[in-house]
Amino acid sequence: MLAVVPPPVTVRVPSKINLHLSVGDLRDDGYHDLTTVFHALSLTDEVTVFASPEAGIEVSGEGARLVPTDDGNLAVRAVRALAEHVGKPDEANRVRVVIRKGIPVAGGMAGGSADAAAALLACSTLWNLDLHRDELAEVAATLGSDVPFALYGGTALGTGRGEQLVPVLSRHTFHWVLAFDQRGLSTPKVYGELDRLRQAGDPPRVGSPEALLEALASGDPRRLALLLGNDLQAAAVSLRPGLRRTLRAGVSAGALAGVVSGSGPTCAFLCSDGDSALKVAAELAGAGVCRTVRVAHGPVPGARVCDE
Ligand code: C5P
Repeated sequence: MLAVVPPPVTVRVPSKINLHLSVGDLRDDGYHDLTTVFHALSLTDEVTVFASPEAGIEVSGEGARLVPTDDGNLAVRAVRALAEHVGKPDEANRVRVVIRKGIPVAGGMAGGSADAAAALLACSTLWNLDLHRDELAEVAATLGSDVPFALYGGTALGTGRGEQLVPVLSRHTFHWVLAFDQRGLSTPKVYGELDRLRQAGDPPRVGSPEALLEALASGDPRRLALLLGNDLQAAAVSLRPGLRRTLRAGVSAGALAGVVSGSGPTCAFLCSDGDSALKVAAELAGAGVCRTVRVAHGPVPGARVCDE
């Protein structure tokens, strides 16, 4: 009798920016307590998992050659973690993972975390596990601070390391332009640079997200623009001074405001509407301040199985 091979499963997963990122002091475990507002964007990755006699991973698309294809890949670790969680560790040795990247690598948009979240949902579907998203999120939190958010998407307030999430009301669509830098930035290095800047002086802190949450509920991009803030921005700019010019160029091109996304170096520019975003993107692309420009909107849902 022939064994029944389950069909491949493809999951589309969003990137994120942080509309607000307030970083607390360094904890004993090497992490920082955060208060952040995550916002999922329509710039996505796609992850397909296949049942296969041999485990393996292939990566194509934006920055693919920079993505590890060994056990260090976060999506491969996600497959293992889920197989162990359900008490079937050997299942992980019979899965091939194919990643198509649209999210920049090491860009501060949680691309690796997105792939891990997608791999969790895809394998849970491939293996017919019928797990609730909240249970997947528990496994996700063991893989990285941003992985749970990629499962839920939307807009959410994150605390702890960023893994404790509460959804935020935001019925409106906001339009963004993203400027990718020539090279990525290492997240631990950016946090380390912030610790150094704080030891050397007292850089301003973004404070509480309350006003920003009200602006989100109002749906007015002009109000929101005034309140975007990221404590990691000073550290990212200190390590990559050219970002100052990129941020200025986006606003000169007509964006309402610009902010470094997470630990950078991607810069996110909020625009008044979709047409304005296209104009800002065209002008920014010609300004010679970044490698590539994309338009995106948010919020969008978290990881979803694609019907093919
Ligand atoms: O959780 P994740 O593996 O994505 O974090 C990568 C690194 O970013 C951590 O090792 C830590 O240096 C830094 N980080 C932090 N505080 C957080 C999240 C990340 O210091 N809340």
